[in-house]
Amino acid sequence: MSPIVKAFFDTATNTVSYVVRDPQGASCAIVDSVLDFDHASGRTDTASADAVIAHVQAENLTVQWILETHVHADHLSAAPYLQEKLGGQIGIGNQITTVQDTFGKVFNEGTEFQRDGSQFDRLFGDGDSFHIGQLRADVMHTPGHTPACMTYVIGDAAFVGDTLFMPDFGTARCDFPGGSARDLFQSIQRILSLPDDTRIFVGHDYKAPGREEFAWETTVGAQKARNIHVGADRDESSFVEMRQARDATLGMPKLILPSLQVNMRAGHMPEPDEQGDVMLKLPVNKI
Ligand SMILES: [Fe+2]
Repeated sequence: MSPIVKAFFDTATNTVSYVVRDPQGASCAIVDSVLDFDHASGRTDTASADAVIAHVQAENLTVQWILETHVHADHLSAAPYLQEKLGGQIGIGNQITTVQDTFGKVFNEGTEFQRDGSQFDRLFGDGDSFHIGQLRADVMHTPGHTPACMTYVIGDAAFVGDTLFMPDFGTARCDFPGGSARDLFQSIQRILSLPDDTRIFVGHDYKAPGREEFAWETTVGAQKARNIHVGADRDESSFVEMRQARDATLGMPKLILPSLQVNMRAGHMPEPDEQGDVMLKLPVNKI
């Protein structure tokens, strides 16, 4: 079955969010939503999430799932806001506990921060499946960018998060805590073992040099033939060498510190302080 996919592109963070719909009904899932955040002022905004809500309501869709491919380091998730407005269960990979453990330490969170993934409604393991209406979805653990990354294969469409990007841009970085270029290479081989005509929807696009438009949809066949990092049977060791050299040149994403603190809580802000104010931390020289 072929889901109907509607993409929403956030120009501030180059993130693509998706509404994935059962073609035979009104059920849908939302993948990788965005809560707008202005770092300078510390203010949130729901314009990006409201565009998703407007689409869901205009199409009379029922949200069953609000899915995260991973704990994003470059944008905040709007999952709790979407859940409040539209319903649905928030799901992520079960290795979230590793990520919570790592960043619970980085941000020196107290014991009130649970590291068991209980902020989410559903923790998926490799090989799990679920349904969106009549549409079957299979979950693949695809670590490398982070240890908890998941790919959701929904009908003939794979939502790969930050593993593969468009063929002319390549692959995701692997230098965050818990990342591994070797793991990413192996995860990508699993994605590329899906049928060639599987549609691939990527988590970000940055336009490759020479490309005029943002793009987010490709196929397994196109990735195998043309991906500049892993296409044409590139071998693991040359990929790892290339990936590590490239990662060494990359700066941290602008929103990494707020994003991690919020997204490891399933998109919830930390508990307000005794004045009722929500505070985020800025650890110095920690990451
Ligand atoms: Fe990411």
